[in-house]
Amino acid sequence: MKRIIAVSLAAGLATGLIGYNTTASGETDAARAPALTELPDGYRDWRLITVAHEEGKLNDIRAVLGNDIAIRAFREGAATFPDGTIIGRLAWDYHPLEESKAAFGAPQSFVAGLPKNGVQFMVKDAKKFAATGGWGYVEFDDGKPSTTAMPEACFSCHSIVKDRDFVFSRYAP
Ligand code: HEC
Repeated sequence: MKRIIAVSLAAGLATGLIGYNTTASGETDAARAPALTELPDGYRDWRLITVAHEEGKLNDIRAVLGNDIAIRAFREGAATFPDGTIIGRLAWDYHPLEESKAAFGAPQSFVAGLPKNGVQFMVKDAKKFAATGGWGYVEFDDGKPSTTAMPEACFSCHSIVKDRDFVFSRYAP
């Protein structure tokens, strides 16, 4: 299997986009099995790790959630995450609350609107995903694994925090 992958990481970081261009030759990436084929059961009810706001083209407000294994590892301040950890990233349109002006006299409240920029997961399995630092990466768009958001590009950017086991988020107290 031959694949040529070009990751425009620097450009992505500079613009604040999840910027990556991926080209493939030979077998298509879409033919590979994604880290998860279905949205994990009950992920929407997982506990909150932290929240974030992306500017630039992404322009969203987001929540980072974890399954029980993830939450335990974050709370214990573990240096690495055990197999079975799943961390989810949900994002929504970031927009002014209509009633905000009446409440405050000027638009002040910005809230989550419709879901946006897919739902992303990192799944820890040191053996299975050894090629990408022990994490499987997958994005769901409209409930289905994305065929364009490539795990190599996710891994490449997340490698910036290799010394934190590839996880950017810190547990919000
Ligand atoms: C250009 C860099 C970049 C790329 C590419 C990227 N991410 Fe991230 N990711 C980040 C940053 C920075 C954060 C922390 C801020 C936030 O939550 O937006 C993050 C957060 C996450 C989180 C929450 C855990 C953590 O590390 O904080 C998950 C899950 C995640 N990304 C999955 C993915 C997946 C899946 C892909 C590929 C489809 C991907 N990411 C591509 C930069 C990137």
